[in-house]
Amino acid sequence: MLRTIESEIEDIRNRGLLRSTRLISSRQSAHVTCNGNDVLLLCSNNYLGLADHPALVAASIAAAQQYGTSSGASRLVSGTMELHERLESSVADFKNSEAALLFNSGYAANTGIIPALIGRGDVVFSDRLNHASIIDGILLSGARLVRYPHNDYLQLALLMEKHAKGRCLIVSDGVFSMDGDIAPLAELVRLKHKYGALLMVDDAHGCGVLGKQGRGSAELLGVGSEVDVQMGTFGKALGSFGAYAAVSAELRELLINRARSFIFSTSLPPSVLAASLAAVELVQTPEGDLLREQLSANTLFFRDSLANAGFRIPAGSTQIVPILVGSAATTMQFSEALLAEGLFAQGIRPPTVPAGTSRLRFTLMATHTHSDLADAVERISHVGRALGVV
Ligand SMILES: Cc1ncc(COP(=O)(O)O)c(C=O)c1O
Repeated sequence: MLRTIESEIEDIRNRGLLRSTRLISSRQSAHVTCNGNDVLLLCSNNYLGLADHPALVAASIAAAQQYGTSSGASRLVSGTMELHERLESSVADFKNSEAALLFNSGYAANTGIIPALIGRGDVVFSDRLNHASIIDGILLSGARLVRYPHNDYLQLALLMEKHAKGRCLIVSDGVFSMDGDIAPLAELVRLKHKYGALLMVDDAHGCGVLGKQGRGSAELLGVGSEVDVQMGTFGKALGSFGAYAAVSAELRELLINRARSFIFSTSLPPSVLAASLAAVELVQTPEGDLLREQLSANTLFFRDSLANAGFRIPAGSTQIVPILVGSAATTMQFSEALLAEGLFAQGIRPPTVPAGTSRLRFTLMATHTHSDLADAVERISHVGRALGVV
């Protein structure tokens, strides 16, 4: 029987997996107006609060006034403007890499970079919990996919011994987006050398937050120079939009010629580039250090308080703090009840996470106050007890 659109939506609804958007009608600050109500925002990736920072807003306005609103074309046509090159050289300085290349989003970066690096006859070793955009990049590449258990480098070593053939790529999130833990990058570097593989790290959630001056997870773990592709995004801690690959000059040239999401898409507009430039500068100043200290203090307090209240929180140390619930339906009830209490936290269900591991994913910001978070913990505990989660 022909599957109708209506029956497909009904099926998603019946499985408790129907998704919808919520409307924010304020700036993306620690408190936002969501569906008309003031709520504490606990599910934004705007970790340092830069999305409404005056320096980024001013840079963005000035760039629109000077250069207009659009780049008008893809980079290889007439869409390479001064600001693209300035941002690339600023990212390369920041990441201590030979070169950098911009992409229009993290999703576009992963789906462009991976098929540019590997193809049919090659093998990609990918952490089971890698982000969906990495998985889509792998599917587009046509390379053979070998998934390894989450962060299990001993299993990865066995799998590489068995399957490494042709050009090989190891790819991992730096900070896992739904679990908040950090990849064992030193071990991945060791394996990359042993098997002559390339190593790519998606640092969407580490960039701006981890390591000296926010240079990311590879910097934190002392292996920045050993990672072939450090991909990061401007749309999270950096408060802007878009993504970059910090790479060698040679890899940059390959990506310019092979990454289809780079070649066949209009490039980032001036106002976005200027905001990203301001953000990359700002995270390297004492103000950036202060914001990271505030984020880290908020993270510690929130993680400890929820654990003491009896919630199940996967091991981790970053600003992404999931409470494991299990059932998708209870997770969504939890999220709805918190919203009624003035707390905006997203429930995360399959297919974003494996079945049976639905969770509430809280994300912290440097701009949350201590009393915001103390009050939130009380409300979360109250609702959690009422729903039998704790
Ligand atoms: C680990 C990871 N990689 C890539 C992306 C995609 O980045 P963007 O939102 O810039 O497309 C995200 C975020 O959504 C992410 O969490």
